[in-house]
Amino acid sequence: MCGIVGFTGRQSAAPVLLEGLKKLEYRGYDSAGIACEQKGTISVSKVSGRIANLCEKTENGRLVPGCSGIGHTRWATHGAPTDINAHPHVSNDGRFSVVHNGIIENYMELRKELTARGYQFQSETDTEVIVHLIEMYYKGNLKDAVMKATSRLEGSYALGIMCSDCPGTLFAVREASPLILGIGVGENFFASDVTALVAYTRNAIYLDDGEFAELTADDMTVFDCTGTPIHKPVSRITWSIEAAEKGGYEHFMLKEIMEQPRAVKSAIAPRIQDDRVHLDDFEFTADELRDIRKIVITACGSAYYAGCAGRYAIEKLCRIPVTVELASELRYNDPQIDEHTLLIVLSQSGETADTIAAMRECQARGAKSLAIVNVVGSTIAKLADHTMYTWAGPEIAVATTKGYTTQLTVLYLFALYAAEKLDLISSESYHKLIDALETLPKMMQQVLDMNPALPKMAKKYNSKGSVFYIGRNTDYAVALEGALKMKEISYIHAEAYAAGELKHGTIALIDEGQPVIALCCNEQIAEKTMNNIIEVKARGAKVLAVARKGNRAILSHADDVIYIPKVEPLFSAAVEIVPLQLLAYYVAKDNGCDIDKPKNLAKSVTVE
Ligand code: AGP
Repeated sequence: MCGIVGFTGRQSAAPVLLEGLKKLEYRGYDSAGIACEQKGTISVSKVSGRIANLCEKTENGRLVPGCSGIGHTRWATHGAPTDINAHPHVSNDGRFSVVHNGIIENYMELRKELTARGYQFQSETDTEVIVHLIEMYYKGNLKDAVMKATSRLEGSYALGIMCSDCPGTLFAVREASPLILGIGVGENFFASDVTALVAYTRNAIYLDDGEFAELTADDMTVFDCTGTPIHKPVSRITWSIEAAEKGGYEHFMLKEIMEQPRAVKSAIAPRIQDDRVHLDDFEFTADELRDIRKIVITACGSAYYAGCAGRYAIEKLCRIPVTVELASELRYNDPQIDEHTLLIVLSQSGETADTIAAMRECQARGAKSLAIVNVVGSTIAKLADHTMYTWAGPEIAVATTKGYTTQLTVLYLFALYAAEKLDLISSESYHKLIDALETLPKMMQQVLDMNPALPKMAKKYNSKGSVFYIGRNTDYAVALEGALKMKEISYIHAEAYAAGELKHGTIALIDEGQPVIALCCNEQIAEKTMNNIIEVKARGAKVLAVARKGNRAILSHADDVIYIPKVEPLFSAAVEIVPLQLLAYYVAKDNGCDIDKPKNLAKSVTVE
């Protein structure tokens, strides 16, 4: 996600800002910039790509003079990662500059109003409306202008603001995006997180939503939302920089597992308005949907497994045949694809070479393409006819977690949208499923709150040999992803198997003490899967089951049971995967593996 920094003091601000931005690189970004003020002039330098490019362009800050300034690393949301869209943004009169972390949800209406008032926009970003609002409201008092401008904003924002009429003064504003003040001696700071501060000061003030601060080299005043000065306690930062990057978690993977409720909420919230699903990024008419004779989902790795899980909801609700194809296979299968095929491409990075190649092959055969990706402006996003972003925020750990669950969530949204457009769902069912979707974050949080049980399970189900994951229907799809998580971070061989298939050969491998993870959340067929648990138990297996709350029968069969809340069965996969992510994490931790950077793996496989 984006990161902001600010500095005001008696030394050159640019090098301090650049160092602060480097500490925020781990958050993931695709462009960066700084602005500094000197003698009533604001100088700005910004680039797409890495901070190293910015250091080179500014000669390590030498070309951006001044003792106060603001800086930004941008994780593109509105508008591709270009120099123009990079922050800081500057007002038309050049007197104001702003950096922003968050999303301004009402930026389109503000942009229309400001354009009508004659303000010229340079970028495609939501952020730019802020700097023009401040210019519009500025009558000589910067604090008043900041308050008036931010009162017009809806959404989330951590802002850094400067004005050439107020040398050495910065404003920092917080609403739903973290913002921390750093207190120095003869200098003051702000930043999105402590990693950018600890090199200069460990005395911090954590702003709360609705609060803002005025900073100069020797002074710092915090105000509440009414503009009244308030007292805020000063905290002592004890974290190491490395710990701070992970938000206090030991690994990025655990941080990202824990972020899933928020990430899934980010995927859903902008697409459910007035109790209806709106896919602004995919507005197919009913006729266009009726023209689709089949849907092909293609991806690699976990994205492929997300497709395997999401296909059930699409087929059930839309009554359109869905196949899920490995991208590395599809491209060579001479696939039966034409203009009546909708190709859904899943990818966290948007840069996976096999997926790109398969997509091009299908597009060449006439398929319409919908990309569901996390990285804004990525190759797959640009190639697709339609793109829906998962809004998961940057995913740093090589093993995807929130990438998978947000892809799944967007597939559910698509299924619901298409079913309603095709008039295949009653109003009652439609609204019931919307409610069920909106409760997914809470359901996931309940499972995460059970986290303390997982480290114990990890010790009991760790294996020197292999682990089997079994399930049926959607449970089998989740088993596929659960097995991959275990393999890629703990290096234990794990095999997902359709529970009903075991008796056709593989059950020969079940010996005394063989760990088996049984997914038994699909109520329609839970009894069948419980029979499979009995089968493997009879051959000596040690069974950890994942089941829905209320299934008491399973306690008679499995050695251990992890319960998940009674989530809508169609959407169950997004919740039942969570204990499997945690199980793999804690087994890998017990085995001393490099969890965030597993051997032989890359975060984005950009080679075939
Ligand atoms: C998942 O944990 C792996 N890192 C890998 O399977 C990944 O899902 C696959 O390479 C696809 O990546 P993408 O989603 O960025 O296209």
